[in-house]
Amino acid sequence: MPPPTPQTFPRFPSLSFTFPPFLLSLSLLLLLTLSSSTPTPTPTPPPSFYSILRSHGLPIGLIPKSITNFTMDPTTGRFEVHLDRACNAKFENQVHYDFNVTGTLSFGQIGELFGVSAQELFLWFPVKNIRVDVPSSGLIYFDVGGVVSKQFSLSLFETPPDCVDVGPTEDARILDSLLEIESQSGKLKRVLDERDVLRAVS
Ligand SMILES: *[C@@H]1O[C@H](CO)[C@@H](O)[C@H](O)[C@H]1NC(C)=O
Ligand SMILES: *[C@@H]1O[C@H](CO)[C@@H](O)[C@H](O)[C@H]1NC(C)=O
Repeated sequence: MPPPTPQTFPRFPSLSFTFPPFLLSLSLLLLLTLSSSTPTPTPTPPPSFYSILRSHGLPIGLIPKSITNFTMDPTTGRFEVHLDRACNAKFENQVHYDFNVTGTLSFGQIGELFGVSAQELFLWFPVKNIRVDVPSSGLIYFDVGGVVSKQFSLSLFETPPDCVDVGPTEDARILDSLLEIESQSGKLKRVLDERDVLRAVS
């Protein structure tokens, strides 16, 4: 039998080290015994975002079918849902979803929502908050643009909707509308702030 040839790893010249083969097989054996002695954990399927919505008393139809992945921090309720692309779903109004939707879940409510907007009179407004009554009244409320609360029937949100890719042109139009609304409400806020300053001065 030939003497064991040391194995070298020439791809890492600066780190080149030698491993006698018997040591290698010993560590392999050790690894194998270790892994076979620890019981293999039975993988529980991770909860879907829809079951998380349900457990917060919210209808699953709020988020379209096209979820690719999500993260959820159970202590803070902060979540991030990724869709396969930005898209529009039709309830009573058109609702636009960014590919990235974030917010904070609490029972019966999604706060600090980003990435969802609703169409009103051909303009797009950010939906900043969604809530249902506890116990349920069969209604759901969308805080649209931080100004108006729109109510819809919960029955519109029973199943995750199909979400249609509207293409880059429409996407850009929606974004323009949102930015316009943001700047308008910024102006409005500045006017109100100035009025408060004037009132404080006088
Ligand atoms: C989820 O998907 C998005 C976009 O496809 C990607 O940027 C992100 O890294 C993914 N996150 C995880 C945790 O897989
Ligand atoms: C999704 O949006 C949130 C809030 O705007 C942001 O913090 C996060 O980085 C975004 N994630 C991706 C993958 O774009």
